[in-house]
Amino acid sequence: MRIPERAQCLSLLDDMDMPEHILAHSELVCQVALLLTDALQAAGVVLNRPLVHASALLHDITKPRSFTTGENHSKSGGEYLTVLGFPEVGDVVRQHVVLDAYFAAEHPSEAEVVNYSDKRVLHDQIVPLDQRMQYILHRYAKTEAHIQMLQKVWAQTAQLELRLFAHLPFGPLQLCDRVDANRCPPDPEGQKFN
Ligand SMILES: [Fe+2]
Repeated sequence: MRIPERAQCLSLLDDMDMPEHILAHSELVCQVALLLTDALQAAGVVLNRPLVHASALLHDITKPRSFTTGENHSKSGGEYLTVLGFPEVGDVVRQHVVLDAYFAAEHPSEAEVVNYSDKRVLHDQIVPLDQRMQYILHRYAKTEAHIQMLQKVWAQTAQLELRLFAHLPFGPLQLCDRVDANRCPPDPEGQKFN
């Protein structure tokens, strides 16, 4: 399995002229994914950490050009990385919006960790799953069919959250402080989204 190291991932992102805000988002998704990976591994779940690291950093690699081409960036990102010689990374990237299969294996997978981590990071803040899904729904849903698809993804991701945290000694709301307390936006009622 060929997996690009961090420096190579950053160089691949550089090749694509990633805007700063997508780079910041990708870095934070990566931090969340690695924290979850380490915690899951401490609980006995076997995961490939370098695969999570590279896939999380690169998950939006074709997103900037998708704004002009209209391409499906998860699909095209997966293809791009596969053509570059990183098919396993491509496979995880392709599934970062919607997983090929939910809970196909007994234990959580790298694709599940990256998919879930992206759904906890809104821009460069770590937010509750519902807040991120509300944003995705309002920002991207264009048709009734698309709304229904995203609502299904939301429900499946809520199940995924339960599945991941069933292994962990902390809950979804404690994730933010463990990753970076500076990335937890205060909510209007004075409680932190953590
Ligand atoms: Fe994305």
